[in-house]
Amino acid sequence: MAAVQGFGVDIGGSGIKGCLVDLEEGALIGERIRVETPQPSVPAAVYDVVVGIVGSFGWTGRIGVTYPGVMKRGVAHTAANMDKGWIGTDVDAGLSALVPGTVETLNDADAAGLAEMRYGAGRGKDGVVLLLTFGTGIGSALFVDGHLVPNTEFGHIQVDGHDGEKRASAAAKDREELSYPHWAKRVDRYLDVLEASVWPDLIIVGGGVSKKAHKWVPLLSTRTPVVPAELQNDAGIVGAALAAAEHREP
Ligand code: BGC
Repeated sequence: MAAVQGFGVDIGGSGIKGCLVDLEEGALIGERIRVETPQPSVPAAVYDVVVGIVGSFGWTGRIGVTYPGVMKRGVAHTAANMDKGWIGTDVDAGLSALVPGTVETLNDADAAGLAEMRYGAGRGKDGVVLLLTFGTGIGSALFVDGHLVPNTEFGHIQVDGHDGEKRASAAAKDREELSYPHWAKRVDRYLDVLEASVWPDLIIVGGGVSKKAHKWVPLLSTRTPVVPAELQNDAGIVGAALAAAEHREP
């Protein structure tokens, strides 16, 4: 029997990725397409890329799309690592007018979290589970007994007078050419502050850098257990497809 399929697109500050998704397994079907995020990353230019990716798969159904900022009812409210032109834009409506199916947009870390909770490291985990994605920024997704509390934005908590993600994201590691031990100290301090206000039962760390989790996770001194994400870079695509498939048609 053919797998139940969905389609997800993950919009990020550096790349836009999309693929068909097997919603039973929580896995990509075939090769994903990745295109560099246009600069400036204005909505119209990014929409063009999304339309191109969806078209090249010949997908005509509903699609899930992640956005790296606060997203409420399809409207973007922040743009920390994107062009400020996104703020106030109705992305669901704008994209739905350009692709054959309807569009559901959600925060990128929330999408990754939904995927990890359903298919990955958060499967069957009750209590307070916090997923953090380390990439261009730091994304967060908070789950209470499996239910998502959307748009938590913990990447922007103040840590020693700085925006958390400015010092502890994977981009900060690359930009400042930090070794894993040096960067792990920053992540540790960031998690210290975050833990003190959220008191999670489990922290799942995702983003590209979670592929090398063995190089930095053991250096952390958090009281909460920290485990690497299992879907890694595909979590956003899978979670977007899942959110779109499960949300009632408007
Ligand atoms: C944004 C979040 C996003 C995270 C990861 C942050 O700068 O504010 O909404 O989830 O980056 O992309």
